[in-house]
Amino acid sequence: MLGTEEAHLWCFRPQKLNEGRLLEAGLSFLSSDERARLDRFLVPEPRHVFLCTRLVARSILSLYAEVEPWEWIFQTNPYGRPEIASPAEYRRLRFNLSNKNGLIVCLVARDGDLGVDVEDTSQPPRRLLDIADRFFSAREAAALRALRSTEEQRSRFYHYWTLKESYIKARGVGLALGLSGFSFLFEPGGIRITYEPGFVDPQEWDFQLLHVDGRHVIGVTLERHKLSNKQLLPRNAEEAVFHELRRVSDIGPAGGL
Ligand SMILES: CC(C)(COP(=O)(O)OP(=O)(O)OC[C@H]1O[C@@H](n2cnc3c(N)ncnc32)[C@H](O)[C@@H]1OP(=O)(O)O)[C@@H](O)C(=O)NCCC(=O)NCCS
Repeated sequence: MLGTEEAHLWCFRPQKLNEGRLLEAGLSFLSSDERARLDRFLVPEPRHVFLCTRLVARSILSLYAEVEPWEWIFQTNPYGRPEIASPAEYRRLRFNLSNKNGLIVCLVARDGDLGVDVEDTSQPPRRLLDIADRFFSAREAAALRALRSTEEQRSRFYHYWTLKESYIKARGVGLALGLSGFSFLFEPGGIRITYEPGFVDPQEWDFQLLHVDGRHVIGVTLERHKLSNKQLLPRNAEEAVFHELRRVSDIGPAGGL
């Protein structure tokens, strides 16, 4: 069950899905647009991740609604954020997706804006201070430089990165918002955001960081007052996805209607 103020965070390892029969079943979940996007991938791994991301979104949303995974119809906002178009009674159900090297994450809530970003921390960029200078706010870049050890800098770099991405995704605008007009502060009371003069945001937010599987960091942004700021626990999406795929590979999508 998903309470009105709750958000659930689901994780899926795409390498777990490798059985031909189930992959075949998964194709039947996709809309014709999604099939067309899938067919444009030339490299197998990103193609597989794209397919798995669709299966995760569809199977997880179906946990919260009396809708079969293949029945969801999505539309994107002008900046590319997928949202539910149909069934109309579930349009308020919100979700956001992210995937990086071996982990797909899906954040879901009944109502309220939300954003998620996952990054793989196992191969940090060599010139991370240069990246911070280029993309982060001046305040964040200076705070990163002030950290003494490379280890601390790497860890903080991913915290900034995932939080910044989750925030621009919660706003729905993506990179059009820019990344340097706002800064994250790590304070004893929690994570806080501050804005540069002229950067407008009418909403209020809560932020969380999660570390999973010793390798990935997940940044989460949740709309304050609509969604509870209770610390999220990552949930394993594999059982739900495999359950749906097995059901369809046994009886076909029409059998579930
Ligand atoms: C939306 C954006 C932030 C996606 O970031 P990304 O890290 O490349 O990819 P992620 O896997 O985290 O997220 C992609 C998913 O976000 C969702 N998404 C796309 N546009 C979105 C938007 N405007 N708002 C919210 N979510 C969006 C989609 O579900 C997309 O996956 P899909 O196309 O398979 O459905 C994009 O604007 C982008 O290209 N970011 C690149 C960031 C970068 O270079 N940062 C530099 C260092 S901070």
